[in-house]
Amino acid sequence: MLIRKPDPVSGSNIPSSEITPKEKWLNRRTFIAAAAASGAVALAGNRLSEILAPSRTVHANAKLQTVPSPLTTTGEQLTSLQNITHYNNFYEFGTDKSDPSANAGGLPTRPWNVKISGLVKAPKVIDIDTILKLHPLEDRTYRFRCVEGWSMVVPWVGYSLSELIKTCDPLPSAKYVQFLSYWDRHVEKWAPGGYNWPYSEGLRMDEAMNPLTLLTVGLYGDVLPNQDGAPVRIIVPWKYGFKSAKSIVQIKFTDKQPSTTWNDAAPNEYGFYSNVNPNVDHPRWSQATERRIGLPFYAPRKQTLMFNGYGDQVASLYNGMNLKKYY
Ligand code: MTE
Repeated sequence: MLIRKPDPVSGSNIPSSEITPKEKWLNRRTFIAAAAASGAVALAGNRLSEILAPSRTVHANAKLQTVPSPLTTTGEQLTSLQNITHYNNFYEFGTDKSDPSANAGGLPTRPWNVKISGLVKAPKVIDIDTILKLHPLEDRTYRFRCVEGWSMVVPWVGYSLSELIKTCDPLPSAKYVQFLSYWDRHVEKWAPGGYNWPYSEGLRMDEAMNPLTLLTVGLYGDVLPNQDGAPVRIIVPWKYGFKSAKSIVQIKFTDKQPSTTWNDAAPNEYGFYSNVNPNVDHPRWSQATERRIGLPFYAPRKQTLMFNGYGDQVASLYNGMNLKKYY
């Protein structure tokens, strides 16, 4: 996951003046909702798309019905949709940051089922449309910190994973949750060899049940673009980005710590916990600072925050644990 060459989209290319702040984005959506309510949308067509798509920033059409979330992160400038959708890690579609946006078009996101298996009273298969209706969808902005040293601020859409888990009746013996991504060598023909596919990630049960852990179905008010893990992914905002498995097809409850793709590939570099921690360096680079994607190249790097700034909500999960050992 080490960045070896300059990225094509981020950094100096998009001036921060072109990044739409969340307030403006939300105001625009509020305005549109009000216009719809008053019948003014009759003339919408082009006008609506103008409102939704100013400047060079790619904009979604606010297709998901969402509600605000008390758990949203405020006071941060949002990363542009262009950067969020063109600077990706999704190795099944290639290892360059620009590969997923170029190659993930063929991911078949409908029909889409998620299998719930393992230590649950009633194993089942849930289709994505049921998942979308299970709980009100929330706008939940989070900082997103990649282990490679870059970060973004993303207005995700989803709801707490705990809401889904509650409907699954896990057995008391379930201590961990494993997430498995879609895998089809014919579709994901760009995936490098040397990794255990399908992509696997996992959380301890209490981490999975923490309200911050987001079952994510969209961003910027629209469904997830394929390259961002359509149609459903996990986002764990206090952990490095690789913990956030994309395009998941299976959620498995286990009594043992599940094996995970990056931990299997390089256990001394990528731990199971992988909480964002500026005090524990990656063996090959420091984790003290980060580069916010979309800021000009001369912008100073940001200090990385313990637990990515979400310590108030999650630090207690790790009371008594040596976080240097359990990196
Ligand atoms: N999920 C799958 N299935 N495959 C991947 O390669 N990469 C991970 C994570 N989830 C990955 C994945 C890594 S390393 C990161 S940093 C984030 O997805 C990137 O998410 P983004 O492209 O939406 O920013």
